[in-house]
Amino acid sequence: MTQQHSRPQWWRDAVIYQIYPRSFMDANGDGIGDLAGITARLDYLEALGVDALWLSPFYRSPQADAGYDVADYRDIDPLFGTLADFDRLLAGAHERGIRMIVDLVPNHSSSAHVWFQEALAAPPGSRARARYFFRDGQGEQGELPPNNWQSIFGGPAWTRVDDGQWYLHMFDSSQPDFDWRNPEIGDEFEQVLRFWLERGVDGFRVDVAHGMIKQAGLPDWDGEQVMVEGGNRGPMWDQDEVHDIYRRWHRVLAEYGGDRMMVAEAWLRPERVVRYIRPDEMQQAFNFDYLIARWDAAALREVIDRSLAVTAQVGATTTWVMSNHDGVRHASRLGLSNPGARPQKIGIDDEQPDEALGLRRARAIIMLTLALPGSAYLYQGEELGLPDHTTMPDHYRQDPGFFRPGGEDGGRDGCRVPLPWQAEGPAFGFNTSGERWLPQPDHYARYAVDCQLGRPETTLTLYQRLLEVRRDQRLGMGELAWEPNPREDVLMLTNGDLRVVLNLGERPIALPAGRPLVQSHPEALANSMLAGNAAVWLTTR
Ligand code: GLC
Ligand code: CA
Repeated sequence: MTQQHSRPQWWRDAVIYQIYPRSFMDANGDGIGDLAGITARLDYLEALGVDALWLSPFYRSPQADAGYDVADYRDIDPLFGTLADFDRLLAGAHERGIRMIVDLVPNHSSSAHVWFQEALAAPPGSRARARYFFRDGQGEQGELPPNNWQSIFGGPAWTRVDDGQWYLHMFDSSQPDFDWRNPEIGDEFEQVLRFWLERGVDGFRVDVAHGMIKQAGLPDWDGEQVMVEGGNRGPMWDQDEVHDIYRRWHRVLAEYGGDRMMVAEAWLRPERVVRYIRPDEMQQAFNFDYLIARWDAAALREVIDRSLAVTAQVGATTTWVMSNHDGVRHASRLGLSNPGARPQKIGIDDEQPDEALGLRRARAIIMLTLALPGSAYLYQGEELGLPDHTTMPDHYRQDPGFFRPGGEDGGRDGCRVPLPWQAEGPAFGFNTSGERWLPQPDHYARYAVDCQLGRPETTLTLYQRLLEVRRDQRLGMGELAWEPNPREDVLMLTNGDLRVVLNLGERPIALPAGRPLVQSHPEALANSMLAGNAAVWLTTR
């Protein structure tokens, strides 16, 4: 490892790149990205300049929720390769000074997991059923679900089995929730952690980290469970005992050298999220408040200040993130007539984003994101300025959320489309066969890596340059100071010797003092003015 990467608590300012393995690079041409494909592109990731990778699930799985339905936590799905492929990938990343964290899905297993299969075969009240939530139904014949909880993907959170009992699944019916009050579950997951720690992973992204403990008695809940603002609420989320799990895991990770870490996926209010990153729990939690912040100077400033303040209370840093595999990419969101809208999907019948405007704004906002102190997460393809596939015909959709009752408006496939590596050629260079598990829109040709690499005006070069300056100037460990806003649709701040101006409005604004280092796009600066929907990094040195 290089010196940079062996720094203690490396995650505090790390830029972590999310790989969605199905869609990154397909080495064997079956249409689904794989581990060998990632290994083949490590040079690309090194040249981009990220500190670490986070891999979405690659475990054995029926792929009902793209691998977030794990059947065997200790093996690689043959779709993605083998454990030997995994070891090669990890070694290749480490040789380049890149850390790697893996996705851990502890809230639920796949219904194909041997424990769930055992539970189905076992009678009510058995030890096998006690690993999940099997309950008798309500109503005279037990024909009604045990409580009124709803699945995140739509419809009731309960499914009935042949002998009449019901089991709980907060997501798809193929994703039964574990009962974490049963000590067997905790013991098993400790072994799973050790399995991957011994293989050398640098940490874990913990899926649905706020969901593992349910309030005793599973009481009905009449409020909203899923809030866009304010996060998830109700007796199925954020129970105090969940923190015991993370304290235990913290101790397990500490037994291994090399500063291993965990990052929580917890859709909660910031004051609740920080409880997951107290000094003896996890190291990071995703800052979804930033992801959902509006395209508005005051709103962004407020989110940034709040994020820094709450994480400082527990001695942690925050994680700036704009996109991931669960929602519309920001290059598309920001091109909508309401750039504050946060649809989960943009479909063929929905308003189509203004592609050029979305891209300009995406390039501008990343200049705010990467200038801020703390850590940042990038979602594969955003360094290309990639938009969602917003005209995907419904018959291609695979997201289980799309198929559950009431789920028709959802479907996260648009942000999960295979990456374009070459403007020409089969599947835009995703593989050599032309197979692909989701269709790529034609305009992905314009975003292909081979059109962007080494060209000064491209989004990819912008990201490389920003990451380089960020590293050189240690911006992630720096301090933010706001400067008086020259206008209400402009943000201005400094971090060390860097001055950042982000113009969220349409009208150009006069540049403050400083020598331009990076600008969000070639036309961003003219006659000492910064264009609308643009940003600049200036050096005050
Ligand atoms: C998380 C994942 C999402 C998945 C869900 C169920 O929210 O990010 O993709 O569907 O958990 O595991
Ligand atoms: Ca493949």
